Amino acid sequence: MTIFAAEIIAWQKLHGRHDLPWQSTRDPYAIWVSEIMLQQTQVAAVIGYYGKFMARFPDIKSLANATQDEVLQHWSGLGYYSRARNLHSAAQKIVDDFGGKFPDKFDDILSLSGIGRSTAAAISTFALNQPMPILDGNVKRVFARHFNVTGWPGLPKIEAQMWQIATRENPDVDAIAYTQGLMDLGATLCTRSRPKCSACPVNASCAALSLDIVNQLPTPKPRKAIPERSIYFLVHKNDNDILLEKRANTGIWGGLWSFPEVETLSKSDQENLQMLPKFTHTFTHFKLHIQPVLIQSAVQTIMPNSLWIGIDEAIEAAIPTPVRKILLSISDRKGLINKKAGQ
Ligand code: ADE
Repeated sequence: MTIFAAEIIAWQKLHGRHDLPWQSTRDPYAIWVSEIMLQQTQVAAVIGYYGKFMARFPDIKSLANATQDEVLQHWSGLGYYSRARNLHSAAQKIVDDFGGKFPDKFDDILSLSGIGRSTAAAISTFALNQPMPILDGNVKRVFARHFNVTGWPGLPKIEAQMWQIATRENPDVDAIAYTQGLMDLGATLCTRSRPKCSACPVNASCAALSLDIVNQLPTPKPRKAIPERSIYFLVHKNDNDILLEKRANTGIWGGLWSFPEVETLSKSDQENLQMLPKFTHTFTHFKLHIQPVLIQSAVQTIMPNSLWIGIDEAIEAAIPTPVRKILLSISDRKGLINKKAGQ
């Protein structure tokens, strides 16, 4: 085992995280769900969702048998909804192709939708006692700094260099502590800004620290301007019901329920319709400027792929975060309080 790996393991045992909900199980399904939620999402945001998801879908079969709508409902607010759609379809594939048992061969795990090399390796290491090297965003940052790898880690050439490092450093014993240790180091000490190098177990051998270039690594992605888009959300309201439309299965909010949206309004609509407060929703890759428009409807006209639903019920449904924000702002919960105050 390398000295680097030995130091990470010793540090993890003493100072790493040991009480995360998915650390008390070796069930590959439970670990799979946690690793998917933890892609692009921090532990603090995941924990509440994880508990509710596992309570409703405790095993592969219950997930495979659920409707996509209910799966998305339990993901609503967590973002990157393709993760939930892939999780759902992979559960169905496990039932169809692997007899309902989570596969124990690395290549079979890798064949499931939504599972890349690093996620397959984390599941293999944590749940199947088959240690494999991982390389997620946090680990790339640790390696870039410690081994002075320059170049944006998203470039295939740089990523290949990092997989070589990951493979070379991966220990054959204590792989769980090592893998968790790399994740913990990246999340708690070797952070993107203000890293706590003085507490780091491998600071003595850190190339970036000795060269005083910790803040320059990892090399950032060549930045293009973030694209922006402006839309109107059409909030059709009739009494305490609003109209929601099911979005197609593709795109950032694929499969979720949302307001009908348009890019332009006629001049007279702009003058006559009631504008709710405008706001901006920022995604990782673009900005969406949202102008909600309140349209009081005298009747509940049925439209394709749409339904009328009570506002309070809609808030609990499979909806994107900006839709929830608007619904909360027009909810009669607030109205009731106001009415009471006015009596
Ligand atoms: N990020 C990805 N996988 C993780 C895990 N198992 N524990 C904590 N953070 C993680």
